[in-house]
Amino acid sequence: MPTFRSLDDLKDVSGKRVLVRVDLNVPMENGAVTDATRIERAAPTIAELADKGGKVILLSHFGRPKGRDPKDSLKPVAAEVAKVIGRAVAFADDCVGPPAEAAVAALKPGGILCLENTRFHPEEEKNDPAFAKQLARLGDFWVNDAFSAAHRAHASTEGLGHVLPAYAGRAMQAELEALEKALDAPQHPVAAVVGGAKVSTKLDLLGNLIGKVDVLMIGGGMANTFLFALGKRVGKSLAERDLADTARDILAKAKAKGCTVVLPVDATVAGEFKAHAPSRVTDVDHVGDADMILDIGPRSIEYVVSELARVKTLVWNGPFGAFEMEPFDTGTVEVAEAAAELTQAGKLVSVAGGGDTVAALNAAGVADRFTYVSTAGGAFLEWMEGKPLPGVEVLKR
Ligand code: 3PG
Ligand code: MG
Repeated sequence: MPTFRSLDDLKDVSGKRVLVRVDLNVPMENGAVTDATRIERAAPTIAELADKGGKVILLSHFGRPKGRDPKDSLKPVAAEVAKVIGRAVAFADDCVGPPAEAAVAALKPGGILCLENTRFHPEEEKNDPAFAKQLARLGDFWVNDAFSAAHRAHASTEGLGHVLPAYAGRAMQAELEALEKALDAPQHPVAAVVGGAKVSTKLDLLGNLIGKVDVLMIGGGMANTFLFALGKRVGKSLAERDLADTARDILAKAKAKGCTVVLPVDATVAGEFKAHAPSRVTDVDHVGDADMILDIGPRSIEYVVSELARVKTLVWNGPFGAFEMEPFDTGTVEVAEAAAELTQAGKLVSVAGGGDTVAALNAAGVADRFTYVSTAGGAFLEWMEGKPLPGVEVLKR
């Protein structure tokens, strides 16, 4: 029994107005959408509600405008939504007031309308109750299908849940079910991969994970900070040397909780941060003063993969190395490939998320062989930190 209401509970939508919060904050270049994944994820909810005869009204933010700004208009994104779902999508130049009300009044059962960027009104981010009520006048129900914006307590992501009957959309439902399997009620042993540049941005996350997972694998620039804290020389590598105490503290806490921390045992190092820079492999005790650690080495890859082979669940955030530059993507790609194979063999539940992570898994060509890959950035991180997400909390029964 899910703890939130879903579309299964929203039976009679025929002729009713359904406000659907989606995340249309998609990457764009020169007026064109460059990655439609978030739209594709929202499509089933939109289609299901329209097929049931609902009047579907899409709400979303785009970018971080300060007030109305034409460069952050959702109009070109609405056109992309129409393309992805293969149905007409009307557009209204404002998300509240007369333009929105007229466009909603013109909707027929099964019709779809996209309203202009909610962030054109500063009241959106303030979660202003009067603004939420203005939005609520446009609908009979509120469906939240934007997990990736659920860490924001804004009027369209949270406030509406207090004034209209609230339901999780299909994408939100899939996301919550995947996350539950990954960390809230997982099959043990559970491993987490935490990579990326900095320990300082992931302190809360590491703190939460050591109480929940059995194996914590640390990669990326973060790992250098831990190696440095253990007395290793890291040369010119990116490392937060002032966080050595913090890193040692995390290791001690992990030990006390029985969480195994996996750090690199070897590294691929280069003299400069550049694709195809001349590189060599060294064990972590022989990093030279002029060396920069840019990836984990082959023995570390083997070590990580052997740990993956003995766990049942994997949650992954952050790359192992400088994955955007060949050949320093090797560690990330090989571990991702191993995780994908274990997943396909039915031996592993694998869930990944976070902006860089998804880019890395897509580049490795493994994203569709993971159990679930979230499109969320900040929301996925806050979930991994164990923080309640306002846009999810408001859906709970
Ligand atoms: C995202 O892209 O992570 C979400 O759409 C949230 O956007 P925000 O960070 O501007 O709130
Ligand atoms: Mg963002």
